[in-house]
Amino acid sequence: PVTSVALSRAYHAKDIKPRNVGSMDKNDINVGTGLVGAPACGDVMKLQIRVDDDGIISDVKFKTFGCGSAIASSSYLTELVRGMSLDEAGKVKNTAIAKELSLPPVKLHCSMLAEDAIKSAIKDYKAKRAQHTILTSAAT
Ligand code: FES
Ligand code: FES
Repeated sequence: PVTSVALSRAYHAKDIKPRNVGSMDKNDINVGTGLVGAPACGDVMKLQIRVDDDGIISDVKFKTFGCGSAIASSSYLTELVRGMSLDEAGKVKNTAIAKELSLPPVKLHCSMLAEDAIKSAIKDYKAKRAQHTILTSAAT
């Protein structure tokens, strides 16, 4: 239908060139990695954050094996959360992403993938830091 074509143009036009595609060393103690999949379609998103010692996200990279909306959502998310604290980034809602990109209802789960990915990356980062603390205190 005409409306969905118009909508898909709207969000594709906003994000023709995905930003921050790539990856970081997942073993780096300052890097958190989120890997999530969408059961509805099988698409997969990997999102990585670099967190400075002051708790601020200083860099973000993603690789998305999925549809245009998922790529646009992850690209937009990388720009959005850079400079945020972990708490702020953990509160980003997929609805904000979907609104910014004018995603149609059938593509809402694509933005959900981005929300899941940032949450998963934060969780990984925190788990890794906790583990690191245990290991370093055990070593002394
Ligand atoms: Fe996943 Fe669109 S259904 S690529
Ligand atoms: Fe499944 Fe977009 S992530 S269609």
